[in-house]
Amino acid sequence: MPDAHILGIESSCDETAAAVVRSGAQIISNVVFSQIATHQPYGGVVPELASREHLRAIVPVVRKALADAGLTYQTVDALAVTQGPGLAGALLVGISYAKALAFALDKPLIAVNHLEGHIHAVLLEERQKGGFSDSSRELNFPVLALVVSGGHTHLYLAEQRGESWSYTNIGHTRDDAAGEAFDKVAKLLGLGYPGGPIIDKLAGHGKASAVKFPPSQIKHPDRKEQASPGAGAPLRFDFSYSGIKTAVLRYVETNNLQGSIEERRKSLLGIAKPTVEDYLSRCDQCTLDLVASFQRAMVEDLVGKTLAAARAYDVATVFVTGGVAANNELRRQFESDAAQEGLPVFFPSRPLATDNAAMIAAAAYPKFLAGDFAPADFSAEAGMRLR
Ligand code: KG4
Ligand code: ZN
Repeated sequence: MPDAHILGIESSCDETAAAVVRSGAQIISNVVFSQIATHQPYGGVVPELASREHLRAIVPVVRKALADAGLTYQTVDALAVTQGPGLAGALLVGISYAKALAFALDKPLIAVNHLEGHIHAVLLEERQKGGFSDSSRELNFPVLALVVSGGHTHLYLAEQRGESWSYTNIGHTRDDAAGEAFDKVAKLLGLGYPGGPIIDKLAGHGKASAVKFPPSQIKHPDRKEQASPGAGAPLRFDFSYSGIKTAVLRYVETNNLQGSIEERRKSLLGIAKPTVEDYLSRCDQCTLDLVASFQRAMVEDLVGKTLAAARAYDVATVFVTGGVAANNELRRQFESDAAQEGLPVFFPSRPLATDNAAMIAAAAYPKFLAGDFAPADFSAEAGMRLR
């Protein structure tokens, strides 16, 4: 198989990223410029600000990725860019820049689905460690991938034919994504943005059994996914997280926590980069118990549904990827529950779990081998599906 250095560019949400990856297996450079500081005061991503920040960062970020790799624009073999899903304006910055570069350099350009990128982050991680390459450590199919991030909670069956990959969605969230639930609950509790990493750090200081959240219930079939429900329709494992967010709000109201939340929110605003101690000194035990119980309920739902789907589809391997896959308790629970079923489970390292461009360059490699290049008139697809 030919060796190829692919320059990946990612700008779908609030990270401007560029990376060079060799043949889908080795990261040569990986630059991520996070916009967290820009969006923090608003408690979430503001699309117009995201586009503006991408415009500012894209040229220096790509230049740095090439410089770190010791390469020039001329010496990369191909460019790859996220086409969707994501914020339309944000995606357009990466796509316009990648198109202009590819045209000027006369290099092939590969359009990558962001969700496929997250799945390939797992493959990249293992290949870097020497896995999935020889017969003793080969990847066994069927593979079930949980992509769990701020914008997505999807379950895919992934197949590989020759070099090319295809995906079948067997579950998605009906409302909020899991990462969105972490972010909204953290905001509700005056803890700041993004919520996932903060809740992850605080949950260990609370009692996870303190607050009981009822399991999420999905009563109606999904009209979008099941055109003809009934015999022969694939079994679905959907998620729903708006209920748990409302339950946290009710708990806050019932226990009169609003005053202390407002105090905490204002006080944390004055600290540029709060430490765990800063958070802990501003949280009473009741709040820490609530945080721990919320995280427990999220983890139980994600692990329970994914492993139920793994059993139903008799899969051989599970991938867990996306920003929420950085969560310590989620990783621990997946590892112990999957081990009981004799099921191997793989995660990307934390820097590859959250948004980055190395995963985009890695997902582009099979398309590079297949000559699957983007037409000159392709554009951003904010609601792009993965197939
Ligand atoms: O994959 P990602 O960087 O961007 C999207 O594609 O959405 O995921 C970001 C999401 C945010 O919602 C963030 O709160 C969540 O991932 N996240 C975490 C953790 N680290 C990031 N959630 C739980 N625990 C974490 N340690
Ligand atoms: Zn993502």
